[in-house]
Amino acid sequence: MERVYIETYGCQMNFADSEVVGAILRDAGHCLAESVDGADFVLINTCAIRDNAEQRVRHRVRELRAQQGRNKRLRIGILGCMAERLQSRLMAEEDNVSFVCGPDSYRRLPQLMAQVREGQRGAEVELSTTETYADIEPVRLASNGISAYISIMRGCQNYCSYCVVPYTRGRERSRDPQTIVAEARGLFEKGYKEVTLLGQNVNSYRFDNVGFPELMAMVAEISPLLRVRFATSHPKDLSNELLEVMAHYPNICRCIHLPVQSGSNRMLKLMNRKYTVEWYLDRMAAIRHYMPDCSITTDVIAGFCGETLEDHEATLELFRKVRYDYAYMFKYSQRDGTYAAKHLPDDIADEEKTRRLNEIIALQGQIALENNRQEVGCEYEVLVEGESHRSKEQLFGRNSQNKVLVFDRRDAVPGTYRKVKVTDCTAATLIGELCD
Ligand code: 5AD
Ligand code: SF4
Repeated sequence: MERVYIETYGCQMNFADSEVVGAILRDAGHCLAESVDGADFVLINTCAIRDNAEQRVRHRVRELRAQQGRNKRLRIGILGCMAERLQSRLMAEEDNVSFVCGPDSYRRLPQLMAQVREGQRGAEVELSTTETYADIEPVRLASNGISAYISIMRGCQNYCSYCVVPYTRGRERSRDPQTIVAEARGLFEKGYKEVTLLGQNVNSYRFDNVGFPELMAMVAEISPLLRVRFATSHPKDLSNELLEVMAHYPNICRCIHLPVQSGSNRMLKLMNRKYTVEWYLDRMAAIRHYMPDCSITTDVIAGFCGETLEDHEATLELFRKVRYDYAYMFKYSQRDGTYAAKHLPDDIADEEKTRRLNEIIALQGQIALENNRQEVGCEYEVLVEGESHRSKEQLFGRNSQNKVLVFDRRDAVPGTYRKVKVTDCTAATLIGELCD
C-alpha cells in the first residue's frame, strides 16, 4: 500500500480526471494522502495549454526535490497533458520524476507505481479512441459535498490552429449516457445539489441516438432541486435545440460559456474556428431570445499570429457589443506540434501581447462592474456554498447565472437554496442580504 498525494493544475477536466485517478488508486489498495508530508508518491496532474502552465509544474517538480531529500521513499509521477506532450523527454529533463502517464492510461497507474518500487522508470502515453472511464466512480477529492464535476466525453478533434489539446487528449469520444445519469443521480442521493457536465466541446456529445440536448434533459429530470451546468461549448455547434431544452428546465443554469477567441474574422479563420463574428453574434441573439436572463462568459486570446491593431480593435468592439459577464483572457503562447507553430509566425512581440491583453482586461473589468450595478435591487435564488473568505459572519453562494453573492449568514446553511436580494457589488461579486 502506497500513500499517494494527488496535485492538480489546469482546467476543470483535469480536476475531474484526478478524481478518477483517486478511485483507480483506492481500488488498487492504496490510500490517498491529504498532503505531500509523509506521502510515498506525489502525482502531479498537469496542463500544457500555455507555456506558463508548464513552467509552473517544472518549478513545482524542482521544489519537491527538497522534500525527496527528507523523505527517501517519495517518488514523483507526472500525469495529464504535459506527460502526453513531452513523454519520456520530461523524465530526461527532470531526473527526479519516476514516471509519466498520459490522460488515457490511468488504469495502468498501479502497475507503473509497482514498477517504480522495483527501481524502474516508466512512460505510459498511448492515446485511446474508446477510453472514457465510464465504469469508474470518481473519488470526490476537493469536494464541498454540494457541487461536483461529471466528465461526459474526452478528447477534441476541432484542431483550432493554436491549441495543443487534440494532441494531448486525443480523439473525441462520448461516454454512455446511462452511466452519466447514474453518476448524477448517485450524487444527488448523497446530498449534492449541483453537477457540471464536462467536455472540451459538449455540444458535439453523441452516444448512439443521444445528443447533448437529450443528455441535458435526462440529467435535469433527476430532480428540480439538482442544478445542472456544463462546459465548454463551441460556438459553431451551439444549437437552438439545446437552448430550447435549457429554457424548458429551470434547474439548468442560465449561464453559457462560449469561447470567442477573437473578434476578427481574419483571425478566426487563421485560428480554424469555423465560424464568423456574424455567426457568433447570431448565437448571442439566440441565447437572449430563449433566455433573456442568461449570463454569457468567454475565452479570448490576445496577440495571435499576425494580429493587427485593427484585428485587436475588432475584439474590443465585440466585447463592447456582447458585454460578457466574465472572460478568461490570455496572451497567445505558441505550442509545438500545432498548425500555428508549424505554419504561422508568432510575430507579435511579448510586450505588445501584454499591452493588448491589458486593454481587454481593463475593458472587461469595466463592463463586468456595469453589468453588476444593474443587478442591484434584483432577487436571486442562491445555492449556499460556504463561508465567505473575508468574514466568518458571511456566507457565499451562486445564482443560476453563476455569479457569486456574499451575504450575512443569519440562519442560512451551506447546501440549501435561499433568496438573496442584491444591495451592492464589485466587478467580481454581488453583495446582498437574505430575503426569505
Ligand atoms: N495560447 C493562449 N491561449 C490558449 N488557449 C488555448 N490554446 C492557447 C494558446 N496556445 C486558450 C483558449 C481556450 C482556453 C481553454 O485556453 O482561449 O479556450
Ligand atoms: Fe483546443 Fe479548439 Fe479543441 Fe477547445 S475546441 S480544446 S480550443 S482544439
